[in-house]
Amino acid sequence: MRMETIPSSTVCVTGAAGFIGSWLVMRLLERGYIVRATVRDPENLKKVKHLIELPKADSNLTLWKADLTVDGSFDEAIQGCEGVFHLATPMEFDSLDPENEVIKPTIDGMLSIIRSCVKAKTVKKLIFTTSAGTLNVEEHQKPVYDETSWSDLDFIYSKKMTGWMYFVSKILAEKAALGPAKENNIEFISIIPPVVVGPSITPTFPPSLITALSPITGNESHYSIIKQGQFVHLDDISEAHIFLFEYPKAGGRYICSSHDATIYDIAKLIQEKWPEYYIPTEFEGIDKEIPVVRFSSKKLMDMGFKFKYTLEDMFREAIESCREKGLLPYSTQNRSNGEEKETDSKSLETHSDVQDKKLAAITNEKHANGQENALLLDIAQ
Ligand SMILES: NC(=O)c1ccc[n+]([C@@H]2O[C@H](COP(=O)([O-])OP(=O)(O)OC[C@H]3O[C@@H](n4cnc5c(N)ncnc54)[C@H](OP(=O)(O)O)[C@@H]3O)[C@@H](O)[C@H]2O)c1
Repeated sequence: MRMETIPSSTVCVTGAAGFIGSWLVMRLLERGYIVRATVRDPENLKKVKHLIELPKADSNLTLWKADLTVDGSFDEAIQGCEGVFHLATPMEFDSLDPENEVIKPTIDGMLSIIRSCVKAKTVKKLIFTTSAGTLNVEEHQKPVYDETSWSDLDFIYSKKMTGWMYFVSKILAEKAALGPAKENNIEFISIIPPVVVGPSITPTFPPSLITALSPITGNESHYSIIKQGQFVHLDDISEAHIFLFEYPKAGGRYICSSHDATIYDIAKLIQEKWPEYYIPTEFEGIDKEIPVVRFSSKKLMDMGFKFKYTLEDMFREAIESCREKGLLPYSTQNRSNGEEKETDSKSLETHSDVQDKKLAAITNEKHANGQENALLLDIAQ
């Protein structure tokens, strides 16, 4: 059962200009929420134009400057809010100082946001978008994961695979939030997304689409991430955030994943639906019979949440959206040496510097040992 939406209910979204944040803001505005969107640089039109152009933004959206590294930074934006959706996260995977640039800001930022909620006295629910990196990063993959599972911190620290500091940051931030939220009667909910796929209203190539569309672009360093992948549509994950906010008795962790598929399943889907792309039929080092690893969304679905999109919907909308922005070629063909090449004028361009850096980090580092599991799903963000 869902609560009636209170038209004037005020909520704060952190990381609002990002891939998921901006879609969530759009859906919240459509529902009549008053939205306070936090970004680090509200003056940077390139980064916020897609937010201020949203329907109802004129009347119901305000932008607030806030940074996870500055204590008290979220106080004003959160003052008077009933709910906070916390999506902002640092993802500098090539950081030379991961403790201070990724792990500490994520934990301190989380605690600072809880203090802002306490000061506000109005916040009932704090919804934290966490990561599958908190769930199944461990030496041996299980066939099915649910919310009782936690990644193995010792394993992460010992292997230091790509994105390790991001996994650590999310695990420690989530755990650090539980006590203070409880002590202050703030309902703390964490939502665990797998690879998020779908259209985008952001101007740049969303990092999770770089991963999802890697069989098309031939970005081999991302294959391991979707080797045994889990996927959810951008709209489903956004709706799940709102559902959990509106559902009176929601609490704890929620996996929000609709499809499990191996890289061979993804390759087959793309090949069948978009034959204009050259898609490999073999992925080096990945057995064709590799099993899927399932993320169970039973807890969420038992509350009445329904996924609306198929895997094909996710890829169709992602491909169309990237093509329209000139981020993805309309076709590719195989080269004689086996690499694919673009066959039209559209090129893969306009990655921001930050995204390029993240990609470089991923490209430069292979995952340690056989841990190349799909749970490293959001290292590309
Ligand atoms: N996309 C996926 O497949 C996926 C999967 C699992 C989990 N998630 C989680 O979902 C959330 C959103 O991911 P996304 O894909 O939308 O990523 P995104 O597009 O990179 O958005 C993340 C946002 O975080 C903000 N940010 C970074 N460092 C910050 C800091 N120090 N202070 C304040 N804001 C900061 C950035 O805001 P600015 O605009 O200020 O630069 C950016 O817009 C993240 O928490 C991520 O862990 C995503």
